[in-house]
Amino acid sequence: MLTPTRHLLQIEGMHPPEIGALLDLAESYVLLNRSGKTQRDLLRGRTLINLFFEDSTRTRTSFELAGKRLGADVINMSVANSSVNKGETLLDTAATLNAMHCDLLVVRHAQSGAPALLAQKVDAAVINAGDGTHEHPTQALLDALTIRRRRGRLEGLTVAICGDVLHSRVARSNIHLLTAMGSRVRVIGPPTLIPAEASRLGVDVFHDMKSGLQDVDIVMMLRLQKERMSSGLVPSSREFFRFWGLDAEKLAFAKPDALVMHPGPMNRGVEIASDVADDPIRSVIKEQVEMGVAVRMAVLDVLSRQAKRND
Ligand code: NCD
Repeated sequence: MLTPTRHLLQIEGMHPPEIGALLDLAESYVLLNRSGKTQRDLLRGRTLINLFFEDSTRTRTSFELAGKRLGADVINMSVANSSVNKGETLLDTAATLNAMHCDLLVVRHAQSGAPALLAQKVDAAVINAGDGTHEHPTQALLDALTIRRRRGRLEGLTVAICGDVLHSRVARSNIHLLTAMGSRVRVIGPPTLIPAEASRLGVDVFHDMKSGLQDVDIVMMLRLQKERMSSGLVPSSREFFRFWGLDAEKLAFAKPDALVMHPGPMNRGVEIASDVADDPIRSVIKEQVEMGVAVRMAVLDVLSRQAKRND
């Protein structure tokens, strides 16, 4: 079994062999994608629905590509945010989707726990594509694959996750995955953007980039998620960039060959300077996007096999 349940709802609770096996399988899909071949027999006759209650470019497109490369029928449903009671909407949607006999349901929702709720109500295997500030498991898997391919391992590396950790489901999933796989994780940001439970998650907390980035192998930047901020947690974008934005000067505190990552979408000049984001040697941001397709193919592959066994 490659995931703890027949769904993929979170990284928390997954064991290193399960994570390692998913990454190994994704590795084979990187090669398949680079060869230009597809494997359309694998999900032939299966239906994948992308149900996105929040905006997305990379995640939705890569799930669509992943599904199509494996032969699934893919349907995209974008549900605009509305003020209606979210619980009721979700359950209505679940009933509708169930009646359509969908096999794989990819869900993004502004509320933490929404995919888990749907998973209880539908027959499909549910994949969390980002829920509120909770988790974004396939993003952590693709980040891990990017790091593992570049560094050959995850164990013993020091990874700094920087900026708006408080609102980031990407940060949470990465913290669970990287600590489980033996990396040391630091979070760096202003006290207002570091969650109170950070040290309980087994990470080291820093409030300044100079000491936090000292000798790290990987610098992972996060988007400043203004849409999730109810009050002004940061003074201004310019001020934020001055103290927490990654520019060449701050990157120099990390190891000389440290890699720069960002899950996208990027706010250039807010959390990251353009020359660092586009640095052809240090930045692996485009590679993260490529790994995203391979990781999602691996996840769809594994979950559909598990579903077949349960048939
Ligand atoms: C992230 C998300 O939606 O959680 N984006 C992504 O999936 N690549 C990060 C973000 O929105 O900043």
